Amino acid sequence: MVKRSVSAIFALLFIAVASHYAFTDEGQWTPDRIGQLNLRQAGLRIPVSQVFNPGEAGVHEAILLLGGGTGEFVSADGLIMTNHHVAFGAVARIATAENDYITDGYLAETRTDEIQAHGYTARMVQYYQDVTGRIMADVEDGMTWEERQRTINTAVRNIVTEARERDDSLEFSISAISYGNTFKLIGFQTIRDIRIVYVPPFAVGNFGSETDNWMFPRHTGDFSFLRAYVALDGSGAAYNTENVPYHPRTWLKVARDAPAEDDFVFLLGFPGTTMRYRSSAYVSYERESRLPYEIMIRGERIGVMERAGEGDRELQIRFAETIKGIANGYKNYQGKVIGIDRMDLISSKRHEEQIWADSWSIDPRLKSRYDGVLQELGEIYRGMRERDALSRTISELLYSPVQSYALNLYEYLLQKTLPENRRANRYRGESLDRVRDSLLGGPGDYYGPVDEELYLNAAVRSLTLTREDAIAPFRIISLGKEIQGYAPALERAIREAYSSSPLLHPEGRAALIEMSAQEAIDRGGLFLEVAADMRERYLESDAARQFTGSKLGRLQQLYAEGIMTLRESQGEMLYPDANRSLRFSYGYVRGYEPRDAVSIEPFTHLKGVMEKDTGKGEFIVPEILSNAWREREFGRWADSSGDVPVNFLTNCDTTGGNSGSPLMNARGELIGINFDRVWEATANDYNFDPEFGRNISVHMHYILFICETFGATDVIDELGF
Ligand code: ARG
Ligand code: GLU
Repeated sequence: MVKRSVSAIFALLFIAVASHYAFTDEGQWTPDRIGQLNLRQAGLRIPVSQVFNPGEAGVHEAILLLGGGTGEFVSADGLIMTNHHVAFGAVARIATAENDYITDGYLAETRTDEIQAHGYTARMVQYYQDVTGRIMADVEDGMTWEERQRTINTAVRNIVTEARERDDSLEFSISAISYGNTFKLIGFQTIRDIRIVYVPPFAVGNFGSETDNWMFPRHTGDFSFLRAYVALDGSGAAYNTENVPYHPRTWLKVARDAPAEDDFVFLLGFPGTTMRYRSSAYVSYERESRLPYEIMIRGERIGVMERAGEGDRELQIRFAETIKGIANGYKNYQGKVIGIDRMDLISSKRHEEQIWADSWSIDPRLKSRYDGVLQELGEIYRGMRERDALSRTISELLYSPVQSYALNLYEYLLQKTLPENRRANRYRGESLDRVRDSLLGGPGDYYGPVDEELYLNAAVRSLTLTREDAIAPFRIISLGKEIQGYAPALERAIREAYSSSPLLHPEGRAALIEMSAQEAIDRGGLFLEVAADMRERYLESDAARQFTGSKLGRLQQLYAEGIMTLRESQGEMLYPDANRSLRFSYGYVRGYEPRDAVSIEPFTHLKGVMEKDTGKGEFIVPEILSNAWREREFGRWADSSGDVPVNFLTNCDTTGGNSGSPLMNARGELIGINFDRVWEATANDYNFDPEFGRNISVHMHYILFICETFGATDVIDELGF
């Protein structure tokens, strides 16, 4: 080794320490900003123009807005990689008890076996331009919020129309970023024929299920492969057997070298929502009202559905997707509550708001702009809390497809007798008949026993509403006699309604649809009585919600503008809240310390999969996999430890919607796929805490190893291995 002087070593140490801190992992950057991020110094080894360069070839072209998450092209033949849980809806839709593709997974032996992924489209960004200047050109300082919105909407329409005239192959829209403080014109290419290529068994793709969800050490093979198909002329046509695989200009190549601790990584994806530039009033509403309520109601729904499905595979399949979705938020929200408290976030937000208010209080121009924003935000959330009990009751009752059907039917009966010009749009002219036809078909998909149980719970809870808020029919039936959450008369009435309501039979519906609204209430039973009672307050609360929504929009725009200006003046470089538009985030492979004396390493291995194997429920290791472990058949996929890496941690800044985002190394090569965050990081949606900000990815080696072990070798070939 070359000898170095002590001072040179000190200098090197200093650089190492400085660079460690200079590059925080926070930030979901709009891709047009990445040129300002000093990525070379952070560790990127390819030119930024190879990452994002709209209209030209670049990594961004391979990134797909797909289902509820993100996906990416990984071959010249339109092969798409995404998460198991992102493709899950498509699998659940084709699964039955005999062909249980959920449990077994699905492998298309040939291209013709690739099954349609119903309801899935993939969209990639081909055009991206900041148009804030043009949009704001006619907005003036003294405008009311309504005038401002009207002016912006006109500009949006003009810009989008113009863009379409220039290029009709793309779908253009304007993304309002940072609560309408900046605007991007985005042109998407859309692919509408997506098919399933390979989905691993549930016991791999969802290993650890809800117990391990949002947790690390993790051992989940949360990946799957789809393929994009287009018409012969290359256009994004709907599913058609004549369609051919799409050939993207850019696709991601799998890295030859596996990632190591401290390596630079980056990802691109479509994060959904963050709330980092929201007020203390908002966070306190979340912490005290919305999150606890969501945890309660989700717990209840999961419990009822799981009990109903016990011992009945067909029912379990029917509920699988719904339960998974509810359970995901259920656990996320619990993490958020703990995280908000840990960060003492409400106080620190208030503190920041005080500093902000002080910063403008002596400047008359700023004062006239921002004065009152904080107070009004406070009032809005106080008002929401006052309406919470009623609006939650209504939404719980309408969660039942039967009750929501009754409300639609009742509305139709009211509208049909009105003169044409006084009807709401969807009841005018021929539309009226269309509404009638669809009502004859009855309520949407529901399972009686589950619906009944949840409806009963909601009705009993509603008995604690104040006299003005009360749902009158429930109150009358129970005569106010509720004994500790139990209302026998109400229960009898609801059970009876579910067993004999005319709404639930074709003849009953056919008769009701000819009646007047009043007759229908008299003859239609409980659901229609409740519909009539809730309608007025529903409309009322809907109007209130709309009013609050638009007021909140104005306040939030000003608040974000103000807080961001303050922080920028303090030298911070800021990125906007997530809004499901394309974002870039970078970080490093790194473990974390969730609790005192607990230090978590960044990589997990197959050994850990085996350690968790109980052979039951959420932790069943398929036999093929345990055999491979026993025989040490790891192919080319073991790392230097001799075992196959499974999942790993990096400190990128991600949120829901980033699932399926490709994790890339310094050279832009694929090393894994993002699928989760650690539990302590769920509150990072409100405020990024670098100590806990860790996203979880499936290691590319595990993906390849699973493909090999389960016979999906064509996929490996197609990936170029
Ligand atoms: N927590 C991950 C995300 O938010 C994975 C969700 C799917 N997995 C599950 N067990 N529900 O979406
Ligand atoms: N699993 C999440 C998704 O579907 C990502 C987890 C998160 O970071 O919130 O997008």
